Amino acid sequence: MTGDADDLKAALLTRIEAASDLKELDDVRVEALGKKGRITEQMKGLGALDPEARKAAGQALNVLKETIATAIEARKFGLERDALNAKLVDDQVDVSLPARPETMGRLHPISQTLDEIIAIFGEMGFAVAEGPDIESDYYNFTALNMPAEHPARQMHDTFYMADDQGGVDMTTVLRTHTSPVQVRTMESQKPPIRIIAPGRTYRSDSDMTHTPMFHQVEGLVIDKKTHFGHLKGVLQDFCSAYFEIDDIPLQFRPSYFPFTEPSAEVDIGCSRKGGELTIGPGEGWLEILGCGMVNPKVLAMSGIDPDEYQGFAFGMGIERIAMLKYGIPDLRTFFDADLRWLKHYGFVPLEAASLVRGLTP
Ligand code: PHE
Repeated sequence: MTGDADDLKAALLTRIEAASDLKELDDVRVEALGKKGRITEQMKGLGALDPEARKAAGQALNVLKETIATAIEARKFGLERDALNAKLVDDQVDVSLPARPETMGRLHPISQTLDEIIAIFGEMGFAVAEGPDIESDYYNFTALNMPAEHPARQMHDTFYMADDQGGVDMTTVLRTHTSPVQVRTMESQKPPIRIIAPGRTYRSDSDMTHTPMFHQVEGLVIDKKTHFGHLKGVLQDFCSAYFEIDDIPLQFRPSYFPFTEPSAEVDIGCSRKGGELTIGPGEGWLEILGCGMVNPKVLAMSGIDPDEYQGFAFGMGIERIAMLKYGIPDLRTFFDADLRWLKHYGFVPLEAASLVRGLTP
């Protein structure tokens, strides 16, 4: 019996070692330990032995069963590890392969336009400033020379925040323009100041040409002798660079903003010949921004001495100039999150706008 058990053990261990895949190994397991397996059959035969012999043979068989089961587990682990290593060698990924073009994402026209604006003003020496979307009534209105009850407030269709009692918190708004960043910048920096402040703005208005959320970029320059001529030069250079038209005509129309004095609205030239809108020299005009010399009252409220410093500011709608440059007809489509639209009007990422390489890809 003992001799038989040793032979069986040796034979099984050899087969286990030799198993070259998981299927072969499992065949050995069934043959040894399965319902009709060789060890199982011997266990069944124990009943015929007398008690002394049964005890000794039973113990020997149990040890054999343990040994075989452990050997199978160890071999299984080895085979699985070999299989994984082989798969890893096989599955090498070529990271230098280009992405599949049909799955490539697109930059939203707002992101592209923002990059272009920042590239142009960056070249002129402007820094980018930021302010919060949720703004205090003070920065959005009061500090911009629009005290409570000022009629200009009504033109802003302001969203107010809710208070804790389910009412309206009249002191906190979603900023209706980027102009509050002028005030925040003047409070925190000493002149000379030269910043642009792009960002989201909000007004309770919705139709073909208005969405409740839109984007503006603010500009602010403060120094000792900054004058209206500088404002005209900066805007002329910006429009030529942005629209990529050297002789783009600009028209300054007198206007009114409480925070600038004098104020103007700026139009760019366009032509509507043949029913098609073309930006550039022509018979028509399109309004693109508001601007003016910073009102001395605003300078004083922001802690800048108006007898020593002066400067200009402007504010421009980003969707509007994106629509004009890229021929996008409906403002609302910017926010539809329609992938077909994005594929058509979007831009190839990783081709950053720069004046050296060219603004548009
Ligand atoms: N904040 C103004 C608006 O939203 C634009 C503006 C900015 C006008 C700066 C003058 C100076 O209409």
